[in-house]
Order: sequence, then C-alpha cells, then structure tokens
Amino acid sequence: MSKRVVFLALSALAVAVLQTGCGEKPLTYQASIKPILEANCVKCHVPGGEGYEKSGLRMDSYEGLMKGTKYGAVVIPGSSVGSTLYRLVSGQADPSIRMPHGQASLPDADVATIAAWIDQGAKN
Ligand code: HEC
Repeated sequence: MSKRVVFLALSALAVAVLQTGCGEKPLTYQASIKPILEANCVKCHVPGGEGYEKSGLRMDSYEGLMKGTKYGAVVIPGSSVGSTLYRLVSGQADPSIRMPHGQASLPDADVATIAAWIDQGAKN
C-alpha cells in the first residue's frame, strides 16, 4: 500500500470513530451515577452524615451533587480531571481525603463511569 492509501484508510477510520462517538447517548446521572453514589456515598453525604456536615456536599440528588460543597462545585462538566469528585474517587488525592472516606476504593469500572459521565457533560 502506498502512503497515501494508508493515510486515506486511517482518515476513514478516524471519521468512523468520531461519528460513533457523537451518535452515542451521553451517560446520565439517573441511569449511571445515582446507583454508584447511593451504594457508596449517600449515607455520609446527607444531613446528619459526617460528609455533609463537614463539607456541605449532599449527594442524594443531582441538584445537590452539582451544587457541590460549601466551597464550590465538585463536578466540572466536560472535565473529569478538573473535578474534585473524580479526583477523590480515582485515588489521585491524598489517602486521608480519598472517598469513600475510610473505606475501600470504588471498583475501577465505577471510577471510569464517573469520569466518562463528567467528560460527556454530566447530564442529569
Ligand atoms: C464514611 C463517611 C463518608 C463516605 C462513605 C463518603 N464520604 Fe465524602 N466526605 C466525608 C467527610 C467526613 C468529608 C469532609 C472531610 C474531608 O474532605 O475529608 C467528605 C468530603 C467529600 C468531598 C469534598 C471534598 C473537598 O475537599 O471538597 C467530596 C467530593 C466527597 N466527599 C465525595 C464522596 C464520594 C464521591 C463518596 C462515595 C464514593 C463519598 N464522598 C463517601 C465522609 C464520607
């Protein structure tokens, strides 16, 4: 194959990948994120729980999660790496503030779901 044919083949492949990427429905909070948070986070992040009392972050609703802590947002739609939520569950933060607090980390699949949801715009 000539270089040009290889180039054309790769371009076609790239276009196909981009198209499927755009045609995919974005992950939603209701379908993908709520079950993860309910199983691992909500018990401490509602009024009366230590996570909520210390940080102000309430995680029993989309609105509460998007509002963030008393210091500000923990989800920056479009940027998982810029989102405190992702940084804490992915183990990039100091172990003393890793979430869920004092418990085993989330499975990699859940961490990946959270990252993808944020990067796709953090839809409800
Ligand atoms: C055992 C209780 C507990 C559980 C379970 C828990 N948290 Fe927390 N969380 C806390 C406490 C306490 C704080 C405030 C102190 C701190 O930041 O270490 C906090 C703070 C936070 C903050 C704000 C951190 C900051 O510095 O702005 C985020 C984001 C957070 N938690 C996310 C989560 C997520 C996501 C889960 C589930 C995967 C979770 N938490 C589970 C107790 C908990």
